[in-house]
Amino acid sequence: MIAPRILLIIGGGIAAYKACELVRLIRKGGGSVRCVLTEGAQHFVTPMSLAALSEQEVHTSLWDLKNETEMGHIQLSREADLVVVCPATADLMAKMAAGMADDLATTLLLATDKPVLAVPAMNVRMWLHAATQRNVARLRDDGVTVLDPDDGAMACGEFGPGRLPEPPFIWAEIEKLLDKPRSAPAAGIKGGALAGRHVLVTAGPTHEAIDPVRYIANRSSGKQGYAIAEALAALGARVTLVSGPVSLATPAGVHRVDVESAREMAAAVEAALPADVAVMVAAVADWRADTSAGQKIKKDGSGAPPTLSLAENPDILAGLAASPRRPRLLIGFAAETEKVVDHAIAKRARKDADWIVANDVSGDVMGGDSNSVHIVSRDGVESWENLAKAEVATRLAARIADAFS
Ligand code: CTP
Repeated sequence: MIAPRILLIIGGGIAAYKACELVRLIRKGGGSVRCVLTEGAQHFVTPMSLAALSEQEVHTSLWDLKNETEMGHIQLSREADLVVVCPATADLMAKMAAGMADDLATTLLLATDKPVLAVPAMNVRMWLHAATQRNVARLRDDGVTVLDPDDGAMACGEFGPGRLPEPPFIWAEIEKLLDKPRSAPAAGIKGGALAGRHVLVTAGPTHEAIDPVRYIANRSSGKQGYAIAEALAALGARVTLVSGPVSLATPAGVHRVDVESAREMAAAVEAALPADVAVMVAAVADWRADTSAGQKIKKDGSGAPPTLSLAENPDILAGLAASPRRPRLLIGFAAETEKVVDHAIAKRARKDADWIVANDVSGDVMGGDSNSVHIVSRDGVESWENLAKAEVATRLAARIADAFS
């Protein structure tokens, strides 16, 4: 791993003293760290201690970035590999969730294009408050990695979740986050190769309700789509991930929009436009129940099953291809169980996609961690060996960056 550069934003809570230990661990681990203190943080730790530990200038105010041409707040927020907010107080997270920028810390957090890790610490009641939980959920949806606080006795005398995790644990989480995006760019592709591009990714299945408890769906874990969203974000793209129901964490730096049905997915895709690139990885259900029953359908005792009448769902990929707001590069996926390449060639032409990534799903690809794909474009077919889904994602992201270079 190349020496990581951390921008550490320290919030105003008693746990701020542990940030000093974290600075020490980052330095020990080979990283460099630049500290920013909120006004509240300065009541708990001093800029002097942090400057000594980090051996870097410490910033406390928007207005002490005296020379904007030398070190403006935008630059400060961009020259890091990862922004860590520790401790992330209830107030700081509320401001982050609301997109406020009324001091240096919040301005940097709004201006950054780098992954953000928030490490909460606060009183147990504050942590459990609906407002804080709402803000945490919003931040996670926005792509911020928010750690769960530890359980235990608190400085205020209460007991429960809200304690700052121990610094060695935080450092391990930092290493994990740095490892993924930093290993993503393929040979020859620079980290910021997709900076300034908006990429739309669909992933996961859709659920088409039959009644309140039953649905129709395709098999899909969402793993490949999420890995692609992550790899694209690692190349600096602004990524909107429209996701069907999956149990996966939002990749760092990715904006996730959750949907259930194909029609909701189509609307979310439309709302996310314009985009430079769209990668449609979702396994959209081709059909939905014609009418969804308002109440659970009951067996009538006759032994005869109910008749399910189906209606065809909109084809989101084909709709996007025909739209006046068609992304410059439109990529579809094709999950096939036989004649993989032949079907994919026909599908690319039929749906008017630029590329189709075809995979053979006759084995146990669904939910697995590897994939054998063929990239079908107007120029021909490129077959890749069986690769981990993360590696397929990295290569595909690099190929996309290449198409834009
Ligand atoms: N797709 C979509 N909307 C749909 C169905 C599929 O956007 N209603 C997209 C998928 O996200 C994928 C591509 O189209 O990128 C191929 O999906 P697939 O289900 O394999 O194609 P089908 O249209 O079902 O074609 P076929 O019935 O021939 O398999």
